[in-house]
Amino acid sequence: MNFDLTMNHDKILILDFGSQVTQLIARRVREAHVYCEVHPCDVSSEWVRQYAADGRLKGIILSGSHASVYEVDDRAPDAVFELGVPVLGICYGMQTMAQQLGGRVEGSPVREFGYAEVRARGHTALLKDIADFHTPEGHGMLKVWMSHGDKVVELPPGFKLMASTDSCPIAGMADETRRFYGVQFHPEVTHTVQGRAILERFVLEICGARPDWIMRDHIEEAVAAIRAQVGDEEVLLGLSGGVDSSVAAALIHRAIGDQLTCVFVDHGLLRLHEGDMVMDMFAGKLHARVIRVDASELFLRELAGVTDPEQKRKIIGRLFVDVFKAEAEKLKAARPGSKGIQWLAQGTIYPDVIESGGAKSKKAVTIKSHHNVGGLPEQLGLKLLEPLRDLFKDEVRELGVALGLPHDMVYRHPFPGPGLGVRILGEVKKEYADLLRRADAIFIEELRSTIEPNSGKSWYDLVSQAFAVFLPVKSVGVMGDGRTYDYVVALRAVQTSDFMTADWAELPYGLLKRVSSRIINEVRGINRVTYDVSSKPPATIEWE
Ligand code: XMP
Repeated sequence: MNFDLTMNHDKILILDFGSQVTQLIARRVREAHVYCEVHPCDVSSEWVRQYAADGRLKGIILSGSHASVYEVDDRAPDAVFELGVPVLGICYGMQTMAQQLGGRVEGSPVREFGYAEVRARGHTALLKDIADFHTPEGHGMLKVWMSHGDKVVELPPGFKLMASTDSCPIAGMADETRRFYGVQFHPEVTHTVQGRAILERFVLEICGARPDWIMRDHIEEAVAAIRAQVGDEEVLLGLSGGVDSSVAAALIHRAIGDQLTCVFVDHGLLRLHEGDMVMDMFAGKLHARVIRVDASELFLRELAGVTDPEQKRKIIGRLFVDVFKAEAEKLKAARPGSKGIQWLAQGTIYPDVIESGGAKSKKAVTIKSHHNVGGLPEQLGLKLLEPLRDLFKDEVRELGVALGLPHDMVYRHPFPGPGLGVRILGEVKKEYADLLRRADAIFIEELRSTIEPNSGKSWYDLVSQAFAVFLPVKSVGVMGDGRTYDYVVALRAVQTSDFMTADWAELPYGLLKRVSSRIINEVRGINRVTYDVSSKPPATIEWE
């Protein structure tokens, strides 16, 4: 059972009707420094009443859906409209609100999708003084993102018109006595220019929620909660060098110091100097207790001769768990007399919680299975400590910086669990990994040092993920007077907001030229560099 780190905060409940962008609503609310939670729309009225019983619930948001009110029978639990708290319905959320409160929704075979200009009407508290521009007649206009087929054609009793477009006469509705609002457009997406202002208006002014969800202050709360939860027992954490496990380690260490032991498994498939950097940071600077397990020989031995990508992933995953378990058993046995290790800490974050919670509900649209070591706490007989499970990735990063972790570590690109194992095509060999590490480091170094003049940002920060891939084929080249016959690397750099789709990054030629020339000159054994110009889909980001 996790300690409730949120109990001193007002909260907004977001009921998820299955839209792909529900998490964005939550992120926008959190950016307004208001705590919120996402739950599936099929919770019962009793659940909602219970949820509100501690007096912290200040408002409810009903998300959009990929379905039509006529295709599915998802309705908001009646309690939503009976608690006396403000409610905002977005897209499908507005339609179900209209239908449940006595209005009428009409199906339409034609979807309205994309940019629209909406006229604000009725001088409502939600949209008052929020506009992108004004018409010559003085009407306030909003630039918004629409995505819907059905629409509300009759307002429920008590509601007035709040917004309209030519093709969607009821694009917004409001009952200001009950503080119920509906918008047909999506304020949570960035294409809706005033979306953030509208959601802020709703949660801060209409709901009156306190904006006290601030990462700097969260440290103190989290530290107190971890101490209360763990007491004088000991905690084990698998440190990978990734953002989530690093921030979890720093936070738990802040709370309980030497009661935390981190295990860092080096599988030999890490980036250049990565192991040393992790040790330097956690053991060196934070003075945390970290055990570095060099298991590279074991991993390389087990991977020898294996070329199938799925098989490679399975082997790496299995060995990782085996090595970690063996270390945990050793540690448990090492201190007879002490209470020993009772807890396993994991860097689970809120999107993982939503996705796996959602998976139990019929609303689940599982897009990506995630990769934490499921089942391990039970197998080890340990209790689970997950201090980041209320936080989104942006918040984890903010917390990391507030805890004193270096910016470069906290804002690092994601790195897959199987490491270079999926970036060396086919069989993994130490020789290949060594060449790849050096080529990759040059690419990253140049991305970090090349500033894009318009934004003033480095190309490392402008791309979402960048790395080199080792191709175990040889090609002919010429170096000085001699002929070479060496390996090839491909450079990959992508831009994406969610890693589910991605565009290859249009890196400047000058940068690519420098990277290529440095790799070929500095990494003996590679004589050709290519750039991957495939987007996802149909290509994936990783090559295996
Ligand atoms: P793909 O290649 O599926 O990658 O387009 C999407 C994102 O997921 C990362 N990735 C992984 N992360 N374990 C991880 O922790 C894995 O097995 C794994 N495979 C892919 C990938 O780096 C990209 O960010």
